Amino acid sequence: MAKITASVFTSHVPAIGAAMDLGKTHEPYWQPLFKGYEYSKQWLKDNTPDVIFLVFNDHATAFSLDMIPTFAIGTAASYQPADEGWGPRPVPVVQGHPALAAHIAQSVIQQDFDLTIVNKMDVDHGLSVPLSLMCGQPPESNFKWPCPVIPFAVNVVQYPVPSGQRCLNIGKAIRKAIESYDEDLNVQIWGTGGMSHQLQGPRAGLINKEFDAAFIDTMISDPERQAAVPHIDYVREAGSEGIELVMWLIARGAMSDLNGGGKPTVKHRFYHVPASNTAVGHLILENNL
Ligand code: DHB
Ligand code: FE
Repeated sequence: MAKITASVFTSHVPAIGAAMDLGKTHEPYWQPLFKGYEYSKQWLKDNTPDVIFLVFNDHATAFSLDMIPTFAIGTAASYQPADEGWGPRPVPVVQGHPALAAHIAQSVIQQDFDLTIVNKMDVDHGLSVPLSLMCGQPPESNFKWPCPVIPFAVNVVQYPVPSGQRCLNIGKAIRKAIESYDEDLNVQIWGTGGMSHQLQGPRAGLINKEFDAAFIDTMISDPERQAAVPHIDYVREAGSEGIELVMWLIARGAMSDLNGGGKPTVKHRFYHVPASNTAVGHLILENNL
């Protein structure tokens, strides 16, 4: 059967992707940020899964205000990098896993969650920046992402957004779905977005280090308590875009300890300010079955 072996959490700041694409990672502004991902790149090389289930948000790129799915699962064979206004990022095409994605859609919908099924979608920085941070971006033209990816898009852009509790619960349903797939696949689940940031209005530039640290602590040790925090607390304390953090609870909900197993091991934890307008947070948890 397929197994979830680890979860990875990371911010997705678009300027990080631009720094990588433009060869600026060694500039003094960016050096400390990329240093925080050195461990992670080696860890992913040593622990390459068969599939990554990648929870992310689209920023009105693939979806527009015409159509706003709360939860959308990518069932396509591949996903092109999106053009977000400066041309598509020079990163590999993302290969999907249609068979596992279709199985997850079937199982999660039968567990009473409404999913939108997406057979065609371009993926924006919300998905490509986490991949770039974790996999690096060698200049070789034959560079590929290390494994297939199932994109799982969550609406955190247009209100109303899903609650932390619903995110944790859908994570548990995704775990059940993956672990009922009849093939020995090693699957990682990634939760992305955050941390505190606000891009608009009089509070633009808001960063709240205390909130971010407490979020990571509680998300690790007592995810049920973190899931009970209402969305308005995120917006007030972590800024209007800080609500992206609820996506981390989907990946957390899929870990063993919430489903009858042992507590996860914290392999790596990193926090850095600034990156563009955002505090960057990153965490790797390994499952203990
Ligand atoms: C920034 C952060 C985001 O999460 C995003 O989607 C766009 C911009 C920023 O900090 O600039
Ligand atoms: Fe974002």
